[in-house]
This record gives sequence, structure tokens and C-alpha cells, in this order.
Amino acid sequence: MIIGVPREIMNDENRVAATPTTIKAMIADGHEVLVEKDAGIGSYFSDADYEQVGARILDDVRELYARADLILKVKEPLYHETLQMHEVDMMHPGQHLISFIHPASPSNHAMVTKLAQAGVVALTLDGVPRISRAQSMDALTSMSTCAGYKGMLMAACEYAGFVPQIFSAAGGSKPAKVLVVGAGVAGLQALATAKRLGAQCFALDIRATALEQAVSLGAKPVESGIPESISVGEGGYAKALSDAWLLKERAAIAAVLPEVDIVYLSALVPGEQAPILIDADMVQLMKPGSVIMDVSIDQGGNCALTQGGQTIKAHHVTISGIKNIPARLAVSATTMLAHNMLNLLKYFVQDNAINLDLNDEVVQGMLVCAKGEIVHEGTLAAMQSVTS
Ligand code: NAI
Repeated sequence: MIIGVPREIMNDENRVAATPTTIKAMIADGHEVLVEKDAGIGSYFSDADYEQVGARILDDVRELYARADLILKVKEPLYHETLQMHEVDMMHPGQHLISFIHPASPSNHAMVTKLAQAGVVALTLDGVPRISRAQSMDALTSMSTCAGYKGMLMAACEYAGFVPQIFSAAGGSKPAKVLVVGAGVAGLQALATAKRLGAQCFALDIRATALEQAVSLGAKPVESGIPESISVGEGGYAKALSDAWLLKERAAIAAVLPEVDIVYLSALVPGEQAPILIDADMVQLMKPGSVIMDVSIDQGGNCALTQGGQTIKAHHVTISGIKNIPARLAVSATTMLAHNMLNLLKYFVQDNAINLDLNDEVVQGMLVCAKGEIVHEGTLAAMQSVTS
């Protein structure tokens, strides 16, 4: 198979879909790999690094799209400003694409329709189910790990004080207090990072198992008072709360806000808008100089004042809604993502061709377009709700 790895064209996207290590493994498996010139530069992989393991560097990405059977990308296809054409327009019928597509997002509906019309077999990385056998392919978990670590470091940088306890001849300071709301993959990694920085940690999650994990990392639990029969659904996943229960949860958060210095917000029920857990009035309860790092911004944010892609000040509190945090940890994020991609490739490829079993849970979760049609249920439902 011929595998193509283009350079990412989204602004500030430093990641790339394959590293020299993963390409070496692909070539060892009998594939030919084409890499666009400078594709790895944002993650500090040079063209020479790729050539050394046997990849071919192409100057013209149109040739790469024309020749490849499979395209490995990080971000969804976009309009290519330099070439004045959409990336989908460089693709061809029967070509496979593995990438983060975020197909249910209304801003991507036209692009997904274009992919289907182009006859591309598109698989989205955000559709890998969180099941044990898919863990090594779960790029979303990898990227949440990156957002947990880097997001907490960014919050610490925004904070106007020391995070650890400091003793000095000029006086000491107590450790900063950090509250993590939503102790899933990102939240637990954020807690572990805050703990390593020397913070005193607190955590709130509406799932008891998530809260137990947070406590095992050294956090003090903040009880929401919401019974599990309300907050946890089938398979142990969190459920969206009614307005009345959300009010109760906000009251529990409001009680600790005057004490904390950094709040890391990562509460989400998959497929839903992020719940508002800190409203505008609650921000006023926080100390001047404190920080809210709201990483749920792609789903609207957990704080009512968060602005997408921006860091603002409101009531003397810094509120960050910075998007695409993994791109700011490019080397580690790329290394994890590229290994997830390689594992997916090994999972899908049989007899030197991609073989998709439509009854398989991983394929069902990931497949967005096939045979000229959009087949992803979540996307179709989202498209219908936009038009109705
Ligand atoms: P996850 O599903 O592992 O964790 C979400 C947690 O929120 C779960 O433990 C769930 O029980 C909890 N939760 C749900 N409703 C809650 C409520 N009302 N109160 C308290 N907790 C509640 O998700 P993951 O992978 O950790 O992602 C978390 C967020 O981080 C998502 O919004 C995701 O999009 C975002 N993210 C942001 C990135 C960025 O660059 N800004 C990168 C990666 C992830």
C-alpha cells in the first residue's frame, strides 16, 4: 500500500501523523510511504530523518494525494490557502483517510459531505471507542493525556503565585490550591501534574469511580451530593444532569471557589455540550489573580465566561479557553498519536490492503464515509438536527 503523510495546514498545528519510528515499521510491513516536505518540522522531525528510514519526500502535496491509497492526517481536511483548493479536492475515490474529523460538529458538515461525494473512505480518530482492546489505538485518550499535563502547566504559568510551598529568607508561601472538575483522562493527568508541582489538590466528579481515582492521586474529594442513580448511566459513563441537579453541583463548587487558586475544568458527557459548572457570578467568588483553565471549550466550555481560543481577565480572574493544547506539546503528542495511527493501521490492514469489518465496534465508531455516503450515525443525527 502507498501511505501518504501531508504537512498539517491548520494554524499553529505542530503535530504530524507519523514519526520516523512509525514509518520504519510501516515500511518493514511492506508499505511505501510518501511524506510532504517539512511535514515533521513542527515536531522536530526533519525530512532527512524520514528519508533515513526509507520514506520518500515529496515537494508537491497534490502528487502525494494523487498517489496514496491511504492518507494519515492529524486534523480534518481544510481549504489549502497556498494551493487555493480544498484538501478533499486532492483526494480520489476509494482512497482511505484516517484523521481527527470531528464529523458531528456543524462547522464540518459541508466538508464531510464533500468527502462522501469524493468517494473517500473516511475514518475519524475521535470515534475510536473507549474499550480495552482499542486502548492502543485511542488517540483521543492520548491527546487528553497531553491536554491534562500541558493544560495544568499553562494554568500554573498564568497563576500569579508560586504553586509549591516555598521557604525563603524573604518569607514563605503555602502551596497553591488546585481544583479539578471532571476527573476523566484529562482531569486525572492534570491532577497528577498539579501534585508533582507541589499543589494541594481537590477534585470533583459525578462518577464515584473517577473521584476514587482522583483521591488515589492525592486529591481531597469535593462531594457534589448527586446520587449515582442520577449521574451514572449504562456502562458506567456519566449522564447529563438536569438543571436542578446542575444547580446543586454549582452550589458545591461555589462553596470551595473562594479558597482555590487554580480551577481546571474538564467535565464532559460524551456527545453532549459541556455543562456550565461555573457561571458568571461564581467567578466573582474567586480570589484576584486566580486562574480558570477551561479545556472543555471545544464542547462550549464548563465556565460561562470562557472565550474560545482566548485567555481573558474577568473579575481579576484569568480564564483560559485555549484550544488544541496538544499542538503545544508537539513532540510528545505526535509520538503518541503516531503510535495510535500505526496500531490502527496494523488493525485494519490484511493482505496489504485495508479490510474494514463493518460489524466491528472500532470500525463502526470510526467510519464516517464509505461508498459515497455518510454512514456515521452521530454525524447524520447532528446534520438532521441542524436542518430541522
Ligand atoms: P472523559 O470522558 O475521560 O472525562 C470527562 C469527565 O467528566 C468524566 O469523568 C465524567 O464523569 C465527568 N463529568 C461529566 N459531567 C460532569 C459534571 N456535571 N460534573 C463533574 N464531572 C462531570 O473526557 P476527557 O478525555 O478527559 O476530556 C475532557 C475534556 O477535555 C473534553 O471536553 C475534551 O474535549 C477536552 N480536551 C481538550 C483538549 C484541548 O486541547 N483543549 C484536548 C483534549 C481533550
